[in-house]
Amino acid sequence: MTDHQTTHQAEEDARNESIRIWLNGKIVPKAEALVSVYDSGFMLGDGVWEGLRLYNGTWAFIDEHLDRLFEAAKAIDLDIGMTRAEVFQAVLETQRANEMTSDAHARLMVTRGVKSRPFQHPSLSKQGPTVTIIMEHSKPQFGRPIRLATVPHMRGLPMTQDPKLNSHSKLNCILACIAAEKAGADEGLMLDVHGFVNTTNACNFFIVRKGEVWTSTGDYCMNGITRQKVIDLCRANQIPVYERNYSLVDTYGADEAFLTGTFGAQTPVSEIDGRLIGNDQPGPVTKTIQGLYKALIERETA
Ligand SMILES: Cc1ncc(COP(=O)(O)O)c(C=O)c1O
Repeated sequence: MTDHQTTHQAEEDARNESIRIWLNGKIVPKAEALVSVYDSGFMLGDGVWEGLRLYNGTWAFIDEHLDRLFEAAKAIDLDIGMTRAEVFQAVLETQRANEMTSDAHARLMVTRGVKSRPFQHPSLSKQGPTVTIIMEHSKPQFGRPIRLATVPHMRGLPMTQDPKLNSHSKLNCILACIAAEKAGADEGLMLDVHGFVNTTNACNFFIVRKGEVWTSTGDYCMNGITRQKVIDLCRANQIPVYERNYSLVDTYGADEAFLTGTFGAQTPVSEIDGRLIGNDQPGPVTKTIQGLYKALIERETA
């Protein structure tokens, strides 16, 4: 593999070297935004996070992001120690401190906080959660469509580590990404426990076949906000869309494929396991959906 590309590639922006970061109620320079080696997130991946995007002065779909954050925190029995309004205020304060008005991306992270001893038990996190917001100037930039490789790492059953949890522990996804890179691709295409095509290691996955848009049932993937917006947009615009099981045979035979996520909106896919999908350019249905999503963002942020 010569030219590596990730699904979270942005234009180089020197301003990101001097951003200011929210850390437990304080805004600090990037170089001072440090957490303890005893932090539950560092030590164990014990935390939850959200990725947010700023367009035209507005944090897109903020209610959905806050819903998912608080739901995930409740699921792991983590008290964020802040109300929804306070979390949103923290986002706005970080935005103000960085004088950002558009084209910014935030990673909002909450861990179980600093532990008294270096062991797993959650009761050792006695000091309260660690809350941080990294906000960067960010304009997605993709040199070419993404290449995927199917990997042996599966999306697990919900009773092991529910793939709907945006947890700090992403090792399963990271291993999937490493396997894909070693196979010469950019990102891993992950199957569910039944062998149906599910999602990629960092984005949701869609195919287009004969004008129909297909994505997985949603049972084993992140309940992506962009995924849901794309489904809703298709329904509202008479584009047939199905959440269904489908296999690699259906996938290799697709006319188009694309990924969804807050960072990159809809990212075209050109190759899966060495099979070309389309002609190295976003296909017509992908382009239509990109346009509909852009218009939705414009309405949301007007
Ligand atoms: C594994 C995974 N899939 C998909 C997504 C995309 O979700 P969203 O559209 O809400 O950004 C994310 C983003 O956090 C993710 O981590």
